[in-house]
Amino acid sequence: MSSHAPQRRLTAPDIAARKGGEPIVSLTAYHAHTAGMIDPFVDFLLVGDSLGMVMHGYGNTVPVPLDLMIMHGQAVVRGSSRALVVVDMPFGSYEESPAVAFRNAARVMKETGCGAIKLEGGARMAETITYLTERGIPVMGHIGLTPQSFHTMGGFKTQGRRQQDWARLEADAAAVAAAGAFAVVLEAMAEPLAARISRDIPIPTIGIGASADCDGQILVLEDMLGLSPRVPKFVRQFADLRREIEKAAKSYGEAVRGRSFPGPEHIYDMIDD
Ligand code: KIV
Repeated sequence: MSSHAPQRRLTAPDIAARKGGEPIVSLTAYHAHTAGMIDPFVDFLLVGDSLGMVMHGYGNTVPVPLDLMIMHGQAVVRGSSRALVVVDMPFGSYEESPAVAFRNAARVMKETGCGAIKLEGGARMAETITYLTERGIPVMGHIGLTPQSFHTMGGFKTQGRRQQDWARLEADAAAVAAAGAFAVVLEAMAEPLAARISRDIPIPTIGIGASADCDGQILVLEDMLGLSPRVPKFVRQFADLRREIEKAAKSYGEAVRGRSFPGPEHIYDMIDD
C-alpha cells in the first residue's frame, strides 16, 4: 500500500486564506491535457470565457454559451487534481436575477465538479454574490475591465486611468468583498489604484494587467505561451509556441513531400505493435 496520502484539491477558503500571504499563482485552462501540465504549478485554474476568443475565434466573449463553459469545465476538472478549478459564468447566464444566477451556477457546479464560479461586475452584482454564497456557491468577483461589457465600454479599455473614476472602482471592490466573494480579479486597472484596493479590501485580489502588489496574478495560458491571435500589451510571454508549431508543421510538410515519413523505423514500430 502506498504511504502517500492522496493530494487534496485546493478550495475557495484555501485561496481566501492567502490574503496578504504567499502570492497566489493562476492561469486559465480550457482542456484536460494542458490543465494536467500546469496543475502542479498553480493554485487555481480558471476556465475563463476568454476561451470564446482564444479557442473558438469569436471577437469578444459576449457570444459564449453556458453549455460550452460546462464542456470545457468538465475537461479541466478531469485533467487536474490539485488546483482549485473556477469556471466563468458567461454573459447572459447570471445578470437577470439572483435566482437565474443560482440556477445556472448550480448547473455549472453539479455538471463540472468545479470548486467555484466567477462572475463580472462590482456593486451591481453584490446582491447576486450574497445570494449564491449563502446557498453554497463560492464566488470569485471580477472588476475593472469586464470584457463581457465590451459593447457598453466601447472596447477593451484600461480602467481607472482618471483619478475621478477611482472612487467608483474602489466601491465596486468593497461591495464584492462585503457581499461574500472569496477573491476578486482586477483586470486592466491603473497600477496605483489596484495596489490601493489590494491594500484596503479583506479578500485576495488577483491581478491581470493591474499591479505586482495584488495578492496573486493570472494570465491567459495561450497569451503567455505566445499562441493567442491577439495579446494584450501587459502580457509577458514566457514561451514562443507559435514559432515552435510553425517550425514543426513546416518540417512535417517537408518530410511528407520528400517521402521520408513514415520512414522504415516507424513502419517497424507499427509492426511490433
Ligand atoms: O476569461 C478569462 O480568461 C478571464 C481572465 C482574463 C481573468 O476572465
